[in-house]
Amino acid sequence: MKKLIVGNWKMNGSLAANQSLVQAMLGGLAGQAPASHMALCAPSPYLAQLQLLLTGSAIAWGAQDVSSQEQGAFTGEVSAVMLKDFACRYAIVGHSERRQYHGETDSVVAAKAQRALAAGITPIACVGETLAEREAGQTEVVVKRQLAAVIHAVAHCTSEIVVAYEPVWAIGTGQTATPEQAQSVHAVLRGQIAAATEHPERVHILYGGSMNAANAASLLAQPDIDGGLIGGASLKAADFLQIVAAGA
Ligand code: PGA
Repeated sequence: MKKLIVGNWKMNGSLAANQSLVQAMLGGLAGQAPASHMALCAPSPYLAQLQLLLTGSAIAWGAQDVSSQEQGAFTGEVSAVMLKDFACRYAIVGHSERRQYHGETDSVVAAKAQRALAAGITPIACVGETLAEREAGQTEVVVKRQLAAVIHAVAHCTSEIVVAYEPVWAIGTGQTATPEQAQSVHAVLRGQIAAATEHPERVHILYGGSMNAANAASLLAQPDIDGGLIGGASLKAADFLQIVAAGA
């Protein structure tokens, strides 16, 4: 399967910075058939800008979160239907920063995935263990519990989701999981997806957590690593494009 490389800008950027970053990416891709599918997930206020800059290009775009509610009195929330108005193809759900700083539970994350799908948006459902959980030998139990909640909610649409394995201890720390560590968790997730859908081969399972231009090729060479969710390195056009090229 062709790899999928998704940039997660987190709470970074400005109109001017986004424009030069995107133009540098598009310039770097000019005249080439990209080795991987690509998407950029921006803060909500910049989705209209991405729609303008990326429509007709090889790069899709998406949001970093979506409301678990459909509409109404939920101050500050952004609904899946609103994201669809800006032609978002993806919405990240259950990023560990949302779970950690905003108290998102497995069931809230599952509801978000369901809302996204109902609006025609592909949820990128994030799972991952903390360092304490890894050291306690709980990695498999934690990621399976997190993914099970999403699978239970989206049911027959499981083949329509993207999954991202992001060990919390690797995010933004420069401490990447080794290809072997990542692959062994990805194999567990693949098995869980295979038990839930007739089309497990359609589901991209991304790795995220300090993936960069130097380590991308060895991670992406693993049989069950179908792409990357890239934080810091997605803010530099050259680095992001090197990761995209490493997906060949
Ligand atoms: P990082 O972030 O690449 O900066 O570690 C990845 C993520 O949190 O999605």
